Amino acid sequence: MDIEVRSAAEQDRLRLATVFAAVAEERDGIATEPPVDVELRAATWRVEGGLVAVVEGEIVGSIHVDVSPHGFGEIGMAVLREWRGRGVGSALLAAAIEWARQRGLHKLSLSVFSHNAAAIALYRKFGFVEEGRRVKQYRRASGELWDTIEMGLLL
Ligand SMILES: CC(C)(COP(=O)(O)OP(=O)(O)OC[C@H]1O[C@@H](n2cnc3c(N)ncnc32)[C@H](O)[C@@H]1OP(=O)(O)O)[C@@H](O)C(=O)NCCC(=O)NCCS
Repeated sequence: MDIEVRSAAEQDRLRLATVFAAVAEERDGIATEPPVDVELRAATWRVEGGLVAVVEGEIVGSIHVDVSPHGFGEIGMAVLREWRGRGVGSALLAAAIEWARQRGLHKLSLSVFSHNAAAIALYRKFGFVEEGRRVKQYRRASGELWDTIEMGLLL
């Protein structure tokens, strides 16, 4: 399977928001839950700092590095469910690490729900280490309170 990773562009907004909304529907890996206002998400999407994975001519996942003025970048990422387990997440994360190094960031960090074994395994594979746990940090629509694990990678 050919995976192309490139910078996000203005014309990707709607597709990026659509992918995001599909992942939000799972109510599992990312903080946002449905309903997602796709038009609004598209309009407000932060294209700068974004990378997209393209397979068979269509965006199937993306990663965003939110650059802090203090030298680190915060990562968020998602891959469409039907494309998982085939290296898309790895390709995106490798590209984001390279992108951050090129910009002289000293660290990448992220928060991940403590039950998210696939994401935690991916981050560990690239050298991220666990730095702490936020207990019952996120209240879900169901009323459940979910912990997050904070992870970081020194570049
Ligand atoms: C986390 C996510 C981005 C991974 O994307 P992916 O395309 O499946 O990742 P890859 O195929 O490159 O797999 C990367 C590694 O993750 C691990 N992994 C993947 N799926 C796994 C699973 N179901 N269970 C355990 N580990 C898993 C493996 O270590 C794998 O490396 P390997 O193939 O060399 O063994 C994807 O599952 C996703 O989008 N989930 C929903 C949104 C989300 O949770 N985002 C992260 C929020 S912090």
